[in-house]
Amino acid sequence: MDVRYFAVGVAACTILAATELRAAEVTYAAGITGNAANVFEQLVAPWEEATGNKVKLVPMPASSNDQFGQYRLWLAAHNKDIDLYEIDVIWAPQIAEHFVDLKEAAADLIPKHFPSIIDSQTVDGRLVALPLFTDVPALYYRKDLLEKHGASVPATWEELTETAKKIQDAERAEGNSDIWGFVWQGSAYEGLTCNALEWVKSSGGGQIVEPDGTISINNEAAAAAVDLAATWPGAISPEGVLAYQEEEARGVWQTGNAVFMRNWPYAHELGNGKDSAVKGLFDVAPLPKGGDSGQSAGCLGGWNVAVSKYSEEQEAAISLAVYLAGPEAQKKRAIIGANLPTIVDLYDDSEIATKQPLIPRWKDVFLQAVPRPSAPTKTAYNEVSSLFWNAVHNTLSGSGSAAENLEILEADLEDLRGDGW
Ligand code: GLC
Repeated sequence: MDVRYFAVGVAACTILAATELRAAEVTYAAGITGNAANVFEQLVAPWEEATGNKVKLVPMPASSNDQFGQYRLWLAAHNKDIDLYEIDVIWAPQIAEHFVDLKEAAADLIPKHFPSIIDSQTVDGRLVALPLFTDVPALYYRKDLLEKHGASVPATWEELTETAKKIQDAERAEGNSDIWGFVWQGSAYEGLTCNALEWVKSSGGGQIVEPDGTISINNEAAAAAVDLAATWPGAISPEGVLAYQEEEARGVWQTGNAVFMRNWPYAHELGNGKDSAVKGLFDVAPLPKGGDSGQSAGCLGGWNVAVSKYSEEQEAAISLAVYLAGPEAQKKRAIIGANLPTIVDLYDDSEIATKQPLIPRWKDVFLQAVPRPSAPTKTAYNEVSSLFWNAVHNTLSGSGSAAENLEILEADLEDLRGDGW
């Protein structure tokens, strides 16, 4: 054999091996509410091991809209430092242009997911993010306290108001002075849009902007629902609830100082943790409805993973996204984080059902969830949401009635819409 050919052959093989083995480090931006950072570490470990790549988590602010603001700045600057973005279910239409189309890479995976969630991440035919988990809140209630005071799980917001007050007063009379009836998310942020949409929709007051683009929020049922909620701060909820996000509500709940809490499924896992004062003492129910004719409506939340167009590690980033949206990672996430899968079959998985019984119970609640109007309002969604949460926050803080604030909101939304969304 000609020695020159041999040398060239060896060199080529070495280069090839080096290319295959070159380990990438990918950077992943995500919120870290609750135990999300710990869950994330456990989820990526098998992928790191299988590929030799490393993942660096960039923790984001707790509020979804603050996180969105930061993403927008990075994406507008074509930031190369973030390879993957964990994105809220409502964002895809607003930032789609910055992400790669994952349709081909995830071709085998797509049919396994709920089609509605895949649709929500598809913009102009491009699949810009892959679903990681869906989110629909629950009414958390203290079984022990309801039993002690002979109360049943409230089916309506009016019943919730009465039961929370009754138990709170009776407990305080017995010296349990830190107890509150109901904790939820009343801060002026995206989470308040979720809470208030639930009161309004479940009372027959529509969904702010309807799927056909009609602005529907200025109506009597919606105003009555928001006015009822305005009676809660200081009465059955701490005054501070007007600055609460998810974690503040969970903090009060998990130290045993609330009878009811509105929160997402992640709080179920943490509430049963070793250090929780309410471990084993609570259960969950679908959120109450408004009056007898209403229908329970949990807000549709959830998170997805997108790969940046500006990433210099796109191949590794796509591989990680596909892995995280796949059955193995979603199952693990369900078991360790109580996050609701978006893969249909996982609702029949016996291990998930044993370890997180909430999950199979929540399939129907998810299927009836109310989406925020991000599809009809397209790129205006964040503005719509912030106008809505401010109108509600003003009402909750005693600045104007719901009817007055919703009338102003309607006019502001009409201005924003102009000739069309
Ligand atoms: C949860 C939901 C998300 C929502 C947020 C509001 O994280 O999954 O969709 O926007 O709560 O606080």
